[in-house]
Amino acid sequence: MAISTDLIQAKTLLESGKLVAIPTETVYGLAGNALDPIAVASIFETKNRPSFDPLIIHVSSIEAAKNYCREFPLPLQKLAETFWPGPLTLLLPKVVEIPDLVTSGLDRVAIRVPQHPMTLALLKTLDFPLAAPSANPFGYISPTSPAHVEAQLGKVVPLILDGGPCPVGLESTIVGMEGAELVVYRLGGLEIDAIEALVGPVKIQDHSSSNPQAPGLLESHYAPTKPFVLGDLAKLIPYYSQLGKTVGVLSFQNFSALQPIEKQRILSKTGDLREAAANLFAAMRELDGLEVDLILAELVPNFGLGKAINDRLQRASA
Ligand code: TXA
Ligand code: MG
Repeated sequence: MAISTDLIQAKTLLESGKLVAIPTETVYGLAGNALDPIAVASIFETKNRPSFDPLIIHVSSIEAAKNYCREFPLPLQKLAETFWPGPLTLLLPKVVEIPDLVTSGLDRVAIRVPQHPMTLALLKTLDFPLAAPSANPFGYISPTSPAHVEAQLGKVVPLILDGGPCPVGLESTIVGMEGAELVVYRLGGLEIDAIEALVGPVKIQDHSSSNPQAPGLLESHYAPTKPFVLGDLAKLIPYYSQLGKTVGVLSFQNFSALQPIEKQRILSKTGDLREAAANLFAAMRELDGLEVDLILAELVPNFGLGKAINDRLQRASA
């Protein structure tokens, strides 16, 4: 396994059906040729991901995206023109060239143009899109640095492209249409307010394991291996301490006086939700790696990116 910035090696591996971990602005992806069913199958196998959970394909431009969908409804085109490259994934009716394994047999394919110079440069040299889920074992926290990928998939992925830490730190927002209505299937790195300012009100689809439109959006996800408890830290810390438990603490802005500082992480000293999003997954991983019995966390203010952060915190605790 190598960690490098070698785009030629990445291209060679991908063209021969191998997988490469790629940086994006949201999280690192585990990428393979989306048009090659064997490469796609090895993504599922490497992640230990159930085949009913479809993959996002990554392309370098709107024009490239148009090669892989039968139609591109106007409101979604407007979103693409404004927010691509960026943390937005669109669900579009797929062309037959996209293998059914990519979409888990669904008629729509998830497409996005990621905003990362290294990955955009790579995509431009390839004549196929890259299918890429987050580069973590299924159900675990998404990776936001090359070291995160290496820790879990280092033995099985031949190359990790080093694009530094991910500036957004939350997975993309997923949007599609049902009839004339715009539906958000996953809260993510692009705020709902920005979407609504452009195309009007959207429906936020409540995620559940029985949601046939987005089978992968299971309630328990993005989860550390340690039990993860969400609530009022001023009550939770004394409660678990009195039970004799050692705890790690994840707070939004301030350290708690009730715990040693080494067992705590804060998301943003200044209360900046963007900074909090960028730090979230690394902080969860660090706490998961400490010698603690469980992790205690609090919700962040529920607006803007805070909604997506709270969604991830709730799934981690499910
Ligand atoms: O930011 C991101 O979106 C990252 C980077 C690598 O691009 N990717 C990512 O992929 O988060 P993944 O596989 O961890 O999550 C993709 C989610 C799946 O859980 C799935 O439910 C949904 O996207 N999805 C993909 N294709 C779909 C489809 N055809 N219909 C409905 N949902 C779909
Ligand atoms: Mg994922």
